[in-house]
Order: sequence, then C-alpha cells, then structure tokens
Amino acid sequence: MRIVLLGAPGAGKGTQCKHVVARYGLLHLSSGDILRQQRAADTELGKKARSYMDSGVLVPDEIIVEMMAGAIKKTPEAGFILDGFPRTVNQAAELDKSLACSHQKIDAVLNLKIGDRIVARRMTGRRSCPQCGAVYHIENLKPKVEEICDNDGARLIQRPDDGPEVVANRLKTYHQQTEPVVDYYKNSNNSTVYDIDANKNADEVSTLLFEKLDALVKA
Ligand code: AP5
Repeated sequence: MRIVLLGAPGAGKGTQCKHVVARYGLLHLSSGDILRQQRAADTELGKKARSYMDSGVLVPDEIIVEMMAGAIKKTPEAGFILDGFPRTVNQAAELDKSLACSHQKIDAVLNLKIGDRIVARRMTGRRSCPQCGAVYHIENLKPKVEEICDNDGARLIQRPDDGPEVVANRLKTYHQQTEPVVDYYKNSNNSTVYDIDANKNADEVSTLLFEKLDALVKA
C-alpha cells in the first residue's frame, strides 16, 4: 500500500502513523521528522531548513521533493505512509510523476479533518522526547512521570515551532498551500480520498482509519 496522510499541523498525523505502521507494517516517512533529524545532525539541508521551520512556513519544494524521493526509494515491499508530504500541489504532482516512472501510484489519501481551535490546543500542549521522538500531550497523553519520557527517561521538550505565534503561522500556511492538495487528489483519477473526523480521541480516529485501510487491503 502507498498511502498519503494529510491534515493540518497537530491534527494527529504522527500519532496515527505509529498505529498504522504497527498494524500494516508500512514504512513511516515523515518529512518533518526527516528535517528535524537533518537539523540535529547540522547538515547543509538541516541548516537550509531551519529558518523556514522556525517561522512556520514551508521549506522550498525543490529541497523537499529531492529529500522525499530519496527516502521513498528505500521503501519495503509492504509500502509506505507519507506524513507531512506532499504539502503543496507542486509537491503532489512531482510525487505522482516520480511514482509513475516505476509504474506506481498513491493508492489512498487519508485526510484528517479538524477545527483550528482544537489543533492549536494540541500543538501548544505537545511535548516530545528529544531522544526517541515519542510524542505526549500535557492533558491528553501524559507520560507516567511528568516531563519524562516513558521509553528512555529523557526530559521532554516543547518543539521550537509549537509556540502560539508560530502555530498561527503554520495554520495559515496550511490553509493557503496544503488544503488545495486535497482537491488535487479529489480531482485525480488515480487515488481515492477518504475524509476522517480527527476531532475525536486518538483511539476513535485509529478505528476510522483502520476501517478504510482494512477495506483497501481486502480489495
Ligand atoms: P511537521 O513536523 O510535518 O509538522 P506538522 O505537519 O505541522 O505536523 P505536526 O508534527 O505538528 O503534527 P501531527 O499532525 O503529526 O500531530 P501529532 O500526532 O504530533 O512539519 C514541521 C515543519 O517542517 C513545517 O512547518 C515546515 O516548515 C517543514 N516541512 C515539513 N514537511 C514539509 C513539506 N512537505 N514541505 C515543506 N516544508 C515542510 O499530535 C499533536 C498533539 O496532539 C500531540 O501532543 C498528541 O499527543 C496530541 N493528539 C494527537 N491526536 C490526538 C487526538 N485524537 N486527541 C487528542 N490529542 C491528540
């Protein structure tokens, strides 16, 4: 299966990808995670991406398309789930072109739909583990010991782009540049788009996603 998971920043894409990967064995490719790894390693790519990410705007398409094409090449037989990519219509078209070269296509697009106010609460309350990348929330998904990662005992951090001002910018960027990607896929003959209500709690959202993906596996 080749799946794209779309949704506003903070809609729960990373959270849901973990469940999808555990159930279907897909490779999870998060453009945001890859960029953060590049930043942590202080690579040229990471240096270029830093200022865009910290102000809540998109990293230029040419950087992202090349980075993700490289990651997709290493995909196992079971397939992949893309998280945070494509984020512009141009990125989606480039992805289609590059998959078509190897006679592949995106099988399904899962679109997490959520209100801006809920998203803002989720992002400002998010805490992440700098070592293993586990994601928590100060109200919805607390670690066993406050501020400490359950997996490795590291002190949790708040992402630099999760402050209220940058969150507002990220939402604006999402509405202007990423929402049109949903219509791009809805108008394409290649991929089916499923709208998923992401305002629900994480388990309920997983159930909705599994219903769609189970049907796809059977088909
Ligand atoms: P990226 O890391 O992709 O950020 P994002 O899309 O803004 O998504 P998030 O990681 O913030 O949220 P999420 O949907 O994964 O939510 P999560 O599961 O963590 O991108 C960061 C930056 O990199 C961009 O701004 C841009 O600069 C750059 N970039 C990345 N990709 C790019 C691209 N393709 N092109 C150009 N630039 C790119 O959940 C959030 C919180 O809510 C957590 O605390 C979680 O515990 C909680 N939560 C999750 N689900 C629920 C639920 N159902 N109920 C209650 N709480 C929940």
